[in-house]
Amino acid sequence: MIIIKSEREIELMKEAGLMVSKTHKYLKPFIKAGITTKELDDLAFDYIKSLGGNAACKGYGGFPGAICISVNEEVVHGIGGKRVLKNGDIVTLDIVVEYKGYHGDSAWTYEVGEISEENKYLLKHTENALYEGLKMVKPGARLGDVSYAIMKYAEKYNLGVVRELTGHGIGNEMHEAPDIPNYGKPHTGPILKEGMCLAIEPMLNLGTRDIYILDDDWTIVTQDGKNSAHFEHTVVVTKDGYYITTPRLN
Ligand code: MF3
Ligand code: CO
Repeated sequence: MIIIKSEREIELMKEAGLMVSKTHKYLKPFIKAGITTKELDDLAFDYIKSLGGNAACKGYGGFPGAICISVNEEVVHGIGGKRVLKNGDIVTLDIVVEYKGYHGDSAWTYEVGEISEENKYLLKHTENALYEGLKMVKPGARLGDVSYAIMKYAEKYNLGVVRELTGHGIGNEMHEAPDIPNYGKPHTGPILKEGMCLAIEPMLNLGTRDIYILDDDWTIVTQDGKNSAHFEHTVVVTKDGYYITTPRLN
């Protein structure tokens, strides 16, 4: 069942989402060659606490980090550790904040120093794929329309679409119904309704779509070792479209 949120619940979704936005803004200047991913994770943990929120990834299914930090060939669920960021890397920060029982979830892939043209292409088109999906979000549309738009865009730019991981409904739980795949068929799936809250999150690869999981039982990496990017927003379905609860802040 896809839960329809009340106005009061949507206000809390917006508050949680804004904490996610602020955390992205806070962390961005620290994303530089020389910092370890553990240092970024600690900064995120302390900052989210200072906002009055909770780093919801911590302990989720036993996940050890405050946020997910995935570098280059890592697709998702990277754990902050000894890895040192270097010039030319790309790094995804996937941040989930819980506040008063509600969640905001947004992933963004950042450049470390000067990155290659190929990596710029990957970032640009993965971000665009997110907005192609979002454009379809409105009452009466079907979830398959969103999935299909993302898939079509990714195919047009020859990027691999990760299939094993999906976007999701979100609210009192980080992951609620429905699953939102980044591939699918138009005019299929549940009908979107005002008040639904969705996290839409294409994960696209420069090479094959195939992935595997590392021995830490969390980090998902590309099979061919090529880079992967991930852009995600949490949105509320509104009367005539959608509202992003995790806006980018400058
Ligand atoms: N933020 C991820 C998502 O988009 C989930 C993080 S998994 C966790 O669904 F275990 F780290 F929480
Ligand atoms: Co998510």
